[in-house]
Amino acid sequence: MKVAIGADHGGFALKNIVAPFLESKGFEVLDFGAYGPEASDDYPDFSKAVAEAILQGKAERGILVCGSGVGASVAANKFPGIRSAVCHDTYSAHQGVEDDDMNVLSLGERVIGPELAKEIVLRFLSARFSGAERHVRRLEKVKDMERDFSKG
Ligand code: RB5
Repeated sequence: MKVAIGADHGGFALKNIVAPFLESKGFEVLDFGAYGPEASDDYPDFSKAVAEAILQGKAERGILVCGSGVGASVAANKFPGIRSAVCHDTYSAHQGVEDDDMNVLSLGERVIGPELAKEIVLRFLSARFSGAERHVRRLEKVKDMERDFSKG
């Protein structure tokens, strides 16, 4: 599986742990930066790069890291077709995919440690959308909202 990853300075160190970890597990990682701990960089730029990689079919899933995970996730969710959430527990990381078809996982380097982060990303990437009728129905309602507001 191809995984797009991005982080601002707040998530730079954790990204540099998660990316090689995923490669060691056989994932193809597309690293959209940051490539250095530049304090003046802005998380929306990395959210945009990861979101576009998914929407253009260059990657199937995305992982974003910032200080809290919040800003990066908020920005990613502005892209129609991106469903991102901050998950700092393994249950949400797989259930968000199974029920909600989450395609971007956001992490906060200042919130969780690297070992928990590794478990969370593996649960996220190994999960699949269930396709259950009730989840498809709910997802269609979310997509309807996205379409309605995109007309703006
Ligand atoms: C950057 O200092 C920090 O605000 C950012 O990484 C993130 O936590 C935003 O949500």
